[in-house]
Amino acid sequence: MIDRLIAGVPASEFARAYGTPLIVYDLDEVDLSVDEFAGAFIERGIAVGYAAKAFLCTALAEVLAATPLWLDVCSLGELRTAERGGFPAGRIYFHGCGKTDDELQAIADGRVAFGVVDNAEELAAIAGRSGPSRGAPVSIVLRINTGIEAHTHEYIRTAGDRTKFGVALADVPDLLARIARDPGLRLIGLHAHIGSQIAEVAPYLESLGLLIEQAHAARALGLPVELLIAGGGMGVEETPGEPRPLDYLALSQGMADAVRGTPFRLAIEPGRAVIARAGTSLYRVMAVKSQGGRRFAIVDGGMADNPRPALYGAVHAFEVMTSAAGEPAVDAVLCGRSCENDVLGSVAIPADLQAGDLVALRTTGAYTYSMASNYNRFGKPAVVFARDGSHRLVIRRESADDTLRNDIG
Ligand code: LLP
Repeated sequence: MIDRLIAGVPASEFARAYGTPLIVYDLDEVDLSVDEFAGAFIERGIAVGYAAKAFLCTALAEVLAATPLWLDVCSLGELRTAERGGFPAGRIYFHGCGKTDDELQAIADGRVAFGVVDNAEELAAIAGRSGPSRGAPVSIVLRINTGIEAHTHEYIRTAGDRTKFGVALADVPDLLARIARDPGLRLIGLHAHIGSQIAEVAPYLESLGLLIEQAHAARALGLPVELLIAGGGMGVEETPGEPRPLDYLALSQGMADAVRGTPFRLAIEPGRAVIARAGTSLYRVMAVKSQGGRRFAIVDGGMADNPRPALYGAVHAFEVMTSAAGEPAVDAVLCGRSCENDVLGSVAIPADLQAGDLVALRTTGAYTYSMASNYNRFGKPAVVFARDGSHRLVIRRESADDTLRNDIG
């Protein structure tokens, strides 16, 4: 009988204490990632903002508040979570390519250090909220579409002609001139984010080079541009233990070299690379069956708690966690319990894997819980933080009643 550990805790203990499906975060892995970013970037003077969209809850905001990281939020929900977790406003900034009135107001009210403006309409909307009555101008950073395409899945590519993000290079002079005319706005920096799951240094440096050119142009207009944010997107390996896909030291060195002798300071904003490795999704096997010459293992989760395999063809390493079965020997399709073919992965399972056994998908700390839905009116899973043999619940499991809490009628 195997009973594998996550953060020093047997998988069976997690299942007994909290039920399944369950997402377990190993806080030692979070610390390790933060330390890696601190060593490679912060020590070179490059700030690191964590992109909250990858995963945020109050307890994580509390954990990250005690690190040197900044926090990139892109909704009032993320901002409220950060605030409740005691994350200091001076280290939070607000992203998004379509901000609501309430979100623009939060930026103007100084609930964050600055807002990243995505487009001309937003610039006008935010300018309307600043001005003499507020006393101080609103600090903003302008997001530029540098046109550099990262070689990654088209759905998670966020620069280049075919994407919606940021201000096209050709439109930047006009927007800079507008900002320079508006005393209610203080342009403190420029931003570019080129995609996600990036494994190469070169596209970051190309994009940064273009930001630097634009930053010089901005300063020539008298704008106090100082901060250049080179985006997130640092790639993560699929299987625990594999080498890191991106060379952080080469990236930080290249970035530092690029701004040497300029007035600019740098930042990056990784989400996945900070949090993905820490997460493990624990499922219970509900059925194992053969049909049409294929074996299917159905678990008690699926595309509702992890849409990534269905949406992006994402691969998460599979592991049998608790079972009396033998070694993985048979090819199988790992499926969820949604009412469609929600494949979680092509995996190898023991020939005698049974209903009741516990299995896991690894490296699910990013964009899993944060993208989970209530499809089929399934409640979202619980989330647990664990370290060194101890564990605590940080997000309760949603009950069936929770899924109808906003219904009227
Ligand atoms: N900054 C901006 C402006 C972003 O849009 C993103 C991610 C990040 C930073 C952080 O990127 P990261 O370091 O996490 O790759 N749902 C997809 C990923 C979408 C990424 C969206 N933007 C997935 O599950 O793979």
